[in-house]
Amino acid sequence: TRTIDLAVIAGDGIGPEVVAEGLKVLEAAVSDSGVSVSTTELDLGAKRWHATGETLTDADLETIRGHDAILLGAIGDPTVPSGVLERGLLLKLRFALEHYVNLRPSTLFPGVRTPLADPGEVDFVVVREGTEGPYVGNGGAIRVGTPHEVANEVSVNTAYGVERVVRDAFARAQARPRRKLTLVHKHNVLVHAGHLWRRTVETVATEYPEVSVDYAHVDAATIYLVTDPGRFDVIVTDNLFGDILTDLAAAITGGIGLAASGNINPDRSAPSMFEPVHGSAPDIAGTGTADPTATVLSVGLLLEHLGLSEESARVARAVSEDLAARDGSPRTTTQVGDALAARVGARVSS
Ligand code: IPM
Ligand code: MN
Repeated sequence: TRTIDLAVIAGDGIGPEVVAEGLKVLEAAVSDSGVSVSTTELDLGAKRWHATGETLTDADLETIRGHDAILLGAIGDPTVPSGVLERGLLLKLRFALEHYVNLRPSTLFPGVRTPLADPGEVDFVVVREGTEGPYVGNGGAIRVGTPHEVANEVSVNTAYGVERVVRDAFARAQARPRRKLTLVHKHNVLVHAGHLWRRTVETVATEYPEVSVDYAHVDAATIYLVTDPGRFDVIVTDNLFGDILTDLAAAITGGIGLAASGNINPDRSAPSMFEPVHGSAPDIAGTGTADPTATVLSVGLLLEHLGLSEESARVARAVSEDLAARDGSPRTTTQVGDALAARVGARVSS
């Protein structure tokens, strides 16, 4: 029988609460397929940093590398200075494990409330570059605190890095019914990086004659996401634009409580990492009110990545059914997880 060796980073705030439900649904999804799940919990996050000053050691990384995948809850706490855990843990994982595809699907499930008056059908996926852009920390400041301060954050875009993510985005577009890819950038201002992205898309497009390609400046893309989100199928964009667009994408498809993501290493040279897009929400931690749905949908992405497509589809269907049945009466984190696990399991015997 197959075993999924899973590294679990529950993290801070509501992280452990939503991860517990994600694991519950994962077990339910694979139990009848003769697949078992073995977990290694890593105590990374605010507590570990307070106790030891460590964010992610080489030994932690080695441990993680030995696994098939990573499930991450949320990282961040108001008692830790901004940037310490973000850079030292979350981004370090994405960079070290070559998570160059930050996959963020947005589907407006039936029955889910959206702030848009007439959204139509919304089903697109953002392929956000995950290892470059302004996130690499190529920057610096001089004359700090003086009126002459200069603060630079350089957006790093390499031919290698852009090509590999663009190739992945085309392959995903090719596999979807609508076969459409939109490059989002700002090449009218960011001419150097913009032209590298544009040229790369043009070049790879010749290998995918069935994929239709268009382009939107990032500012215009925010308008389209609100006025005509149905126009998007696969969006490929850089790390920072993708960060911003995917929060907006979450907002129009039911909110951050439903937004799933995969930090994917398509070459499989290291484990991929699956996490809800939301943060640690310290204000509601411990209240049992966090919605675990984004984590459960991330588990669905994890199953897909591991080649368990049927199990993945079952998770997505369970979420879709549960969302359609929600009547607005409050449920605890555990109740939502139990309901989803029951629906996933029920599928097997029916
Ligand atoms: C996200 C988050 C992270 C990001 C932060 C916490 C570093 O906002 O996953 O979208 O900017 O990528
Ligand atoms: Mn973000």
